[in-house]
Amino acid sequence: MIRIESVTKRYPDGTVAVDRLSMEIPDRSITVLVGPSGCGKTTTLRMINRMVEPSEGTILLDGEDIQRQPVTTLRRSMGYVIQNAGLFQHRTIVDNIATVPRMLGWGKQKARARAAELMERVGLDTALAKRYPYQLSGGQQQRVGVARALAADPPVLLMDEPFSAVDPVVRKGLQDELLRIQEELGKTIVFVTHDIDEAIKLGTMVAVLRTGGHLAQYAPPSELLSSPADAFVEDFLGGDRGIRRLSFFPSGRLELTTGPVIPLDATAEQIAAPDALWLLVTDADGRPLGWSEPGDLAAGDIRPDRLLSHGRPFVPGTDSLRVALDCAVLSPTGWAVAVDTDGRVTGVVSQQTIGEAIRSAHAAGRDDEKVAG
Ligand SMILES: Nc1ncnc2c1ncn2[C@@H]1O[C@H](COP(=O)(O)OP(=O)(O)OP(=O)(O)O)[C@@H](O)[C@H]1O
Ligand SMILES: [Mg+2]
Repeated sequence: MIRIESVTKRYPDGTVAVDRLSMEIPDRSITVLVGPSGCGKTTTLRMINRMVEPSEGTILLDGEDIQRQPVTTLRRSMGYVIQNAGLFQHRTIVDNIATVPRMLGWGKQKARARAAELMERVGLDTALAKRYPYQLSGGQQQRVGVARALAADPPVLLMDEPFSAVDPVVRKGLQDELLRIQEELGKTIVFVTHDIDEAIKLGTMVAVLRTGGHLAQYAPPSELLSSPADAFVEDFLGGDRGIRRLSFFPSGRLELTTGPVIPLDATAEQIAAPDALWLLVTDADGRPLGWSEPGDLAAGDIRPDRLLSHGRPFVPGTDSLRVALDCAVLSPTGWAVAVDTDGRVTGVVSQQTIGEAIRSAHAAGRDDEKVAG
């Protein structure tokens, strides 16, 4: 949908902010521009809506040169969100969100109704509608910024470090919200950040830029993690990229065993039967209670308070191999507990089995499926 073709931006003082950048931004997905301060991210983003004009090269929107489109029409098709939201301080929240629809000539009622609908969509209580921006938290203001950008339903959203100014917990909430909105609305989002973890979490495609506006690598996040193009990208990705890459492998294919799983009212035979060092005891509903060595269990008298913690369980298919591995590493027995979405045990799996799954997933390159966590 958006094609950047050999674009260079030289500012009047001679600074080359972007140097012969070429990339294709896919439709209806999130493309992230990431890189150190001053590498040309904002400049690139602003060239897409012509707040900055390129010195050389072309940008195409749906195959058409954006230079040939009136700036107002172009900007109407692109919502823009910046750090600290950039809200109009003298306008209420509802009027901030309704800005563009009002500019487009919508009636007051219709524009406000649209604003209310968007507040809900971005997870804001409509009771905040009559407040002014200074009466909102930073995270809430940022949500208003997103709602305002979505108001006229533009196909494209340009976002420049929108979540950088909020604390990590609020930030995670905003990121999750954005992924949900993207899934629901199918916008084409170009997202700028200097945070590689944010890039990996949000991006379908990630462009790593280096100072001087050079594109160092343009790839899906799992590919960045598995095959960084050069030392700069590798260094920018930081440590433990092997572990982080496991986030892209699903856990649904892990082979679970139910052999060591016994109910609270297990008979002496059930306790003795499994050839296992550890047994996982479950309650009457099949929910995990804890681990024990078989020798410490007496039929008819299993005491839940004497069991070792079962640790955090994982949900195969929903959680990634990274989560499954984490559960096994944190488990007192080295075995991870798998549960269904209702929290009932579906089996257990050892660190060793997870390790084998990791090796075969790497071998098969089965990283095309992006899963949560
Ligand atoms: N109007 C301008 N005139 C001259 N140089 C500029 C101008 N705007 C930006 N630059 C320079 O262009 C380069 C790229 O700037 P840009 O704002 O695109 O970087 P950025 O990647 O967004 O950085 P940050 O992460 O700090 O926001 C920098 O060296 C910057 O100083
Ligand atoms: Mg910037």
